[in-house]
Amino acid sequence: MLQISRAEEVLPLLADARRRSHAYTADLSDEQFRVPLLDIINPFLWELGHIAYFAEFWILRHVYRQSPILPNADQLYDSAKIPHDDRWSLPLPSREQTLAFMAEELRRVKELTTGGAPTHADPLYFLRLALYHEDMHGEAFLYTRQTLAYPRPNVTRLTPPEAGPFPGDAYVPGGVYEIGARPDDGFVFDNEKWAHEVRLEEFAIARAPVTNAEFAAFIADGGYRRRELWTEEGWAWRQSAEAEHPLYWRRAAGVGAATEWERRHFDRWVPVRAHEPVCHVNWHEAQAYCAWAGRRLPTEAEWEVAATGGTRRRYPWGDEPGPAGRANLDAAIGDVVDVGAYPEGDSPFGCRQMIGNVWEWTATPFGPYPGFAPDPYKEYSQPWFGTHMVLRGGAWSTRERLITTRWRNFYRPLRRDIITGFRTCAAA
Ligand SMILES: [Fe+2]
Repeated sequence: MLQISRAEEVLPLLADARRRSHAYTADLSDEQFRVPLLDIINPFLWELGHIAYFAEFWILRHVYRQSPILPNADQLYDSAKIPHDDRWSLPLPSREQTLAFMAEELRRVKELTTGGAPTHADPLYFLRLALYHEDMHGEAFLYTRQTLAYPRPNVTRLTPPEAGPFPGDAYVPGGVYEIGARPDDGFVFDNEKWAHEVRLEEFAIARAPVTNAEFAAFIADGGYRRRELWTEEGWAWRQSAEAEHPLYWRRAAGVGAATEWERRHFDRWVPVRAHEPVCHVNWHEAQAYCAWAGRRLPTEAEWEVAATGGTRRRYPWGDEPGPAGRANLDAAIGDVVDVGAYPEGDSPFGCRQMIGNVWEWTATPFGPYPGFAPDPYKEYSQPWFGTHMVLRGGAWSTRERLITTRWRNFYRPLRRDIITGFRTCAAA
């Protein structure tokens, strides 16, 4: 995350996040706004209002003690209180009214932050909380559009580098390492608190995420049919989902097709390219692949140390942000790229793309670090301890200002609608 020391510095970032929220939704018709009830998505109209409500709640109401803009907002947009399925039947404001609410919220935040209004809590902390919350919902808009086969939003500005594979392992010596955030790291979520030592045995970790070519070999070898490769829970999921390949894959049609498989990227079918990371696989699929390959998933501590080289750097390449030539982030390309791309972003141990391209599953269930205490937004981490698995590193859809080597994401192990891949480990 960025080093930000003054509340005013967050305002242009909030405006940028808001522009992105609109860029991910404004082109959709009212008909496209009517989404089916699925437990992995939210209605666009609800999610837009919820983003503004969250910022309003923590900045305007908590920090500045303002009264709500919408009198019934708590009954509409509080994600901790409104059951997911109810979001389809709430008496939500119209699309026009929702956009007006969002604009008014942002206007008041600017006004109060720059106007010297009395504060009742740290404005900088809560401005950043709202910023990263909106950034995370931006990523969710992309997942939703992918799930629903809507077009890719038009925010791309770079062409993908053609880079090829990056096989082989990096070696990490055993020892005592520090993971987690320190108090002087700036804004951090509660789940990163605080830095603590972990002892690791020597291990080897793939220099790149598992590629489509590698995963296709697992499929061709009967990976989805061989019970012995799957955990009990994984096999139960595989059977009920009738999974035979990554979500969004299909066999390429016709003799002479460029590749054996195609994948649906938003509303288009594109070739599955050999050296791009496999994507849209869940934790169970990752686990089965590892069993087949005689490998394993890294623990999150192993992942973090492989990314930092055992130093305290925020990014694999150092402490300075800036993904240009170093990571696939910000939807600047709008898709995955070859795993060999971005050598400038390598970690000290030689791991590539630890930041960006695809989120990476780890072997670690999401849980508290030693001494954990929830922060004011107490529903962020704690409710998900024990049921979710940790993912690291961010994907092409993640905002650069949000992701670091320490950032802990978490999803249920069956989720494959997220932009998730994985890399594998082995004994050194
Ligand atoms: Fe939220």
